[in-house]
Amino acid sequence: MQRTRIKDILASGQGGSSGLDGKVLLKGWVRTRRDSKGFSFLELNDGSCLANVQVVVDHTPELLPLLERLNTGAACAVQGELVASPAAGQKWEVRASALTVFGEAAPETYPLQKKRHSDEFLRTIAHLRPRTNKYGAMLRVRSEMALAVHVFFHQRGFAYIHAPILTGSDCEGAGEMFRVSNLEATVAGAMTPPEREAQEFFGRPANLTVSGQLEAEMLALALGDVYTFGPTFRAENSNTPKHAAEFWMVEPEMAFAGLAEDMDLAEEFVCALVRHALAHCAEDLALFGTFVDKTLMSTLAGILDKPFVRLPHAEAIRVLQASGKSFEFPVHAGSDLQTEHERFLCEEHFKRPVIVYDYPKEIKAFYMRLNDDGATVAAMDLLVPRIGELIGGSQREERLDVLQSRMVEAGLPAEPYWWYLDSRRYGSAPHAGFGLGFERLLMLVTGIANIRDVIPFPRTPRNLEF
Ligand code: 4AD
Ligand code: MG
Repeated sequence: MQRTRIKDILASGQGGSSGLDGKVLLKGWVRTRRDSKGFSFLELNDGSCLANVQVVVDHTPELLPLLERLNTGAACAVQGELVASPAAGQKWEVRASALTVFGEAAPETYPLQKKRHSDEFLRTIAHLRPRTNKYGAMLRVRSEMALAVHVFFHQRGFAYIHAPILTGSDCEGAGEMFRVSNLEATVAGAMTPPEREAQEFFGRPANLTVSGQLEAEMLALALGDVYTFGPTFRAENSNTPKHAAEFWMVEPEMAFAGLAEDMDLAEEFVCALVRHALAHCAEDLALFGTFVDKTLMSTLAGILDKPFVRLPHAEAIRVLQASGKSFEFPVHAGSDLQTEHERFLCEEHFKRPVIVYDYPKEIKAFYMRLNDDGATVAAMDLLVPRIGELIGGSQREERLDVLQSRMVEAGLPAEPYWWYLDSRRYGSAPHAGFGLGFERLLMLVTGIANIRDVIPFPRTPRNLEF
């Protein structure tokens, strides 16, 4: 007999229209067991959806000894009859005719109890937290949003490309990279740099990528419109709720596009992702709206409500200075925006997402296109409520001489970037793109406040347990 998923049972209609002939085989994990006189109720969850199905098990001589082994957390199969439930709040229940116990869970030590556990506690049992309602819901939303990313770009004719994870260059030029080596640290430590280089697997230093952008640019300058969606790594020691050492980034790159098209794409993308979540994750979002962030639904509706604000960085500074707020980091002309400033702009001042553009060149990466004023670059950051920066992007510097002098200014050696510079020697063209932090997107659509809780096995400073 084929296994039926609980999601399909709960979605099915009455009687003949159910497509289920009454007999079902379920496999899942026991959430709770309640014993009555002569029978017990099992709440069974199989991860296919938030809801459990109620199973009624009579205390027959065959079933009772199996039932007694089914405590919270145990894995089992239930064969039985799907019947209309007399209980309130559920259409269906299952009357068990046979049980199989796959794996017991000792009630004395199983760490998940019926009560609500703190996020901090659940992080210490990251291997079991997917069995809770909240993390199950988060993981289903995560999966659905990954699909939404691909649907969005596929519909627009973007080619999905794969940037390497091992690289020899630093995309952001910020030096926040994890080194990768095949050499024993003690052995490598005793070597001179040339000895070491000769022994290194790649014959040169290697890192985990901080962004697939430079490679995406090469492919956009051949295929037109492309995007990457993959893991990226940053060794920045920022212990904040929105930074992870390993995170997933979506990076579209468009040839023959400038900053305006880049901002248009970013805004359309965020709105499409939010719409997709509302349309396809309603049950899971309702859980977040009830238990995690009561303002979630209004925040999401607010994103779709009006066009995003677009404002030059210099204007943003003026708004912040005129706000009368005392920020932890006071702003002045040319200063970078901190999360507190970004949130003030979105949450208090404009009350919707804001795209800040034309940043001072000193605070942005070397590859961003220099504006005619010689002082700012064609950069943009898309800011959203509660999180701040969700997207960072720019038009790229396509002029070889300008790019070279920007690299000198930034103190970057030209040699490792020779291939990047080559793309400006042969068939260079205007192009633009951005990076969206996938975990920050999930924080936005679920209301979850800490990045450690939107990725199954978070990597943050001093945290590599699972
Ligand atoms: O602004 P960032 O650093 O931009 C780039 O890496 C560009 N190369 C992207 C491009 O133009 N193709 O990072 C892009 C986004 C940020 O806006 C943020 O959402 C996310 O990536 N991000 C992080 N997310 C989690 N943890 C971190 N440590 C992150 N650093 C950046
Ligand atoms: Mg950024």
